Amino acid sequence: MATAPYYLTTPIYYVNDRPHIGHAYTTLACDVLARFKRLDGHDVHFLTGTDEHGQKVEKSAQAAGKDPQVFTDEVSQNFRKLAEDMNYSNDDFIRTTEDRHTRAAQAIWQAIDANGHIYLDSYSGWYSVRDEAFYGESELTEDEDGRKRAPSGSEVEWVEEPSYFFNLSKWQEPLLEFYAANPDFIGPDTRCNEVVSFVAGGLKDLSISRTSFKWGIPVPNDPDHIMYVWLDALTNYLTAVGYPDEENPDYSKFWPADLHMVGKDIVRFHAVYWPAFLMAAGLPLPKRIYAHGWLLNKGEKMSKSLGNVVLPEDLVGKYGLDPVRYYLLREVPFGNDGYISHETMVSRINSDLANDIGNLAQRSLSMIAKNCGGAIPNSGAFSDDDKALLDAAHNVVVDVRSEFDQQAFHRGLEAIWKVVGDANRYVDAQAPWALRKTDPDRMATVLYVLAETIRHLGILIQPIMPEAAAHMLDQMAIAPDSRSFAHLGPDHALVAGTALPKPEPVFPRYVDEDAAE
Ligand code: MSP
Repeated sequence: MATAPYYLTTPIYYVNDRPHIGHAYTTLACDVLARFKRLDGHDVHFLTGTDEHGQKVEKSAQAAGKDPQVFTDEVSQNFRKLAEDMNYSNDDFIRTTEDRHTRAAQAIWQAIDANGHIYLDSYSGWYSVRDEAFYGESELTEDEDGRKRAPSGSEVEWVEEPSYFFNLSKWQEPLLEFYAANPDFIGPDTRCNEVVSFVAGGLKDLSISRTSFKWGIPVPNDPDHIMYVWLDALTNYLTAVGYPDEENPDYSKFWPADLHMVGKDIVRFHAVYWPAFLMAAGLPLPKRIYAHGWLLNKGEKMSKSLGNVVLPEDLVGKYGLDPVRYYLLREVPFGNDGYISHETMVSRINSDLANDIGNLAQRSLSMIAKNCGGAIPNSGAFSDDDKALLDAAHNVVVDVRSEFDQQAFHRGLEAIWKVVGDANRYVDAQAPWALRKTDPDRMATVLYVLAETIRHLGILIQPIMPEAAAHMLDQMAIAPDSRSFAHLGPDHALVAGTALPKPEPVFPRYVDEDAAE
């Protein structure tokens, strides 16, 4: 069995706020991919965590009247709790205030410096604390009150202070060459084009230290300077696999990372600054950066001021965890912005889950319970229709793998649900209930084919709905160690005579109490 390593990361979340559904979404996509890769035989390292330094966090701590360390200890916990509540399978949770990370961030600084890419000067220009980003005058617009605004809409302030600079301008050509040689480095293509034209437009050297606040990692040998929070934060991906200890087995196994998943708002930091820092430090570059779109609440950006922030715990409390996990990745084409709403959630739960896959499993297993003594039936020779369905169930993993490798989760799920549709059409066409009297042997074969199809579906939906899938597979009496993708296909087919537990519905309908009133 292949055990190729697969290292994937989420962005690390600012601890200035409690987690909302947008944060949950990024990590969910990674969790689904991590689970998929494990089932597909990879040795996965899945990292998430919190970004705890910088002015933005410092200000939030001040606003809360707390010492930044106490504040970050508290807020970071909310993200750990989110990971539990959402059933994320992360292998590590990193905090940038940990010692291992200070060591790594200072080491990468020293490596870049030793290679001659850092110089001391002074910075004067615009800074957005909300974005933790510097902006050129030409990038700014004025709002109706005459205040300068960053392209993201956030406020900017004038900063003038001594600063270390990274010679980013020198990396324009190497970056462009790298993008050209590695066309899959940035996905989706629209983002790749944006990044390439941004870099082709010319790069300015980047201020990478600040002296006007203290909450961060001191610059090696010049502790009056605090490292720019993005250089600090990006390095977390190296810290977690043991850098700067390049002898660390995790480092040799997992670096360079296979995928950094990010939102579209932070693609520039990951696809321009990060590869330039790594090249400057003489380190290998990650294989891929994928920037997904934004989740919008009925078309509006979620924000505290609009009061329309959706909290993961509210959604999960109302609809259940696995339905929420399915909905978020099925409803919105990954990579695009997309709306979430109660109406589309209920429709997905009731049609895709309760009607399509839920009914398929429930009616097939109930027929087996009733007509085959509660055990897997004996099958006769397979007809062409039987073979077509079994082949579709067996082979769909190939399509799902290729879609998931491009982060097209919605298309991977669509492929699985195409098999669900095929299976439902098969039940209707074969009408096993009618065969009970006319041809019981054929009925047994049809029910066997259905059970085998459901086994495949149960295995395939594990990444997206781990609990529901486990429930389905338990009902098929499939041993926990027989649920990987290596068990798809006829070699591991269900054995006639295996006793099955009493079937229970796995995907209940959502009854809209508000609408019923
Ligand atoms: N701390 C930085 C990342 C550093 S990575 C080295 C940061 N943090 S964040 O908490 O502001 O955002 C983290 C992620 O959440 C981003 O990828 C962002 O796109 C995502 N989302 C925040 N709101 C979102 C939505 N409404 N919808 C989808 N994702 C969004 O940036």
